[in-house]
Amino acid sequence: MSNPILLAPGPVQLHPEVQKILAHPMIHHRTPEFDQILSHALSGLKFLFQTKQPVLMHTSTGSGAMESALVNLLNPGDEVLAIVSGKFGERWAEMAEIFGGKVSRLNVAWGSGVHAEDVRTYLKNNPQIKIVMTQACETSTATVHDIKLLGEIVSETEALLLVDGITAVGAYPMPMDAYKIDALIAGSQKGIMLPTGLSFICLSEKAWAKAQTAKTPRYYFDLRKELKANQNGETLFSSPVPLVKSLEYVLSMIQKTGFDLHFKEIKRRADFTRAIGQKMGLTLYSKSPSDSVTAFNLPADIKGVELRAHLEKKYFVTVMGGQDQAKGKILRLGHMGYILDADMINTMELLALALADFNFNVNPADVRRMSEAWLKENPL
Ligand SMILES: Cc1ncc(COP(=O)(O)O)c(C=O)c1O
Repeated sequence: MSNPILLAPGPVQLHPEVQKILAHPMIHHRTPEFDQILSHALSGLKFLFQTKQPVLMHTSTGSGAMESALVNLLNPGDEVLAIVSGKFGERWAEMAEIFGGKVSRLNVAWGSGVHAEDVRTYLKNNPQIKIVMTQACETSTATVHDIKLLGEIVSETEALLLVDGITAVGAYPMPMDAYKIDALIAGSQKGIMLPTGLSFICLSEKAWAKAQTAKTPRYYFDLRKELKANQNGETLFSSPVPLVKSLEYVLSMIQKTGFDLHFKEIKRRADFTRAIGQKMGLTLYSKSPSDSVTAFNLPADIKGVELRAHLEKKYFVTVMGGQDQAKGKILRLGHMGYILDADMINTMELLALALADFNFNVNPADVRRMSEAWLKENPL
């Protein structure tokens, strides 16, 4: 096989044009040339988030935007309802506690979507809740929650709905305004198809009102100051110029392609992976599977950590294993980023070869044939 394959749920394979942009000579971020790039990128982000509100950027990983949402919207002592259905839900709940929130966890079985009516009931019985937080896609379990319904429920209350869209925005529809989300966050190395290093956050009017007065200390992530800087055509701190230039390119590419086709491409990869994986004899881990990442249960006699290492070492394919309670038990394949049909076919064949090395009953040549046939029968 020629190139190594990276089909993790982030970071993702980069478009060749993005790779070229990243190699451009450096320019300064306080120049008319960069101002124009920034302005295009910021308006492209509004398109991506499907919002009338400004979308702001931080030079951080996605977790930075999770923290930003909290320091801008939480008062110490506020009661918070955290939907926890995996590793990232737990991380956000912990963060809210560290910043002084009184957090109640709505624990959801790993691999299941939240039952939104439970949230309605909880809010009815606890009208003092100020913030509801959830992942759109809980990447650790490859599972989606019904954000549209949660938006309807939470918007009828005083509470704000904070959504971690790190493996949703850019991967499947997540219209901020239509879904009545109060804070939507994203990260660059997932659906936005860039290297790690940028995070994004957008607030509703209801959230901005709270951000003006929230009492949690904030400095680097102060969205009031970042917004002011953006209104003056700048970012608050130094900009990672190569990332912002690449962002401008990716956003214009998505705009040219159009959401329908862009999301269809990703969904097709998810459908393909789910279909071929199941034909190989694997089963899906999630009861509410995401189009951005697929998780397969591994047979009980195969150690997931060893299989993943073997795939990487012998076949040059990087996919992810499970985390925390799912460690060693599942395999997660990402569908975001620059992925060719050939990458998908090769991945499934190489996965079959690796599984066969672990005595799993699968015929890699059949898997290749099935994969090619599926893609031919399901053109874009
Ligand atoms: C849903 C979700 N939230 C948060 C994070 C953390 O993002 P980062 O590693 O960029 O800080 C991830 C990363 O995988 C994620 O998938």
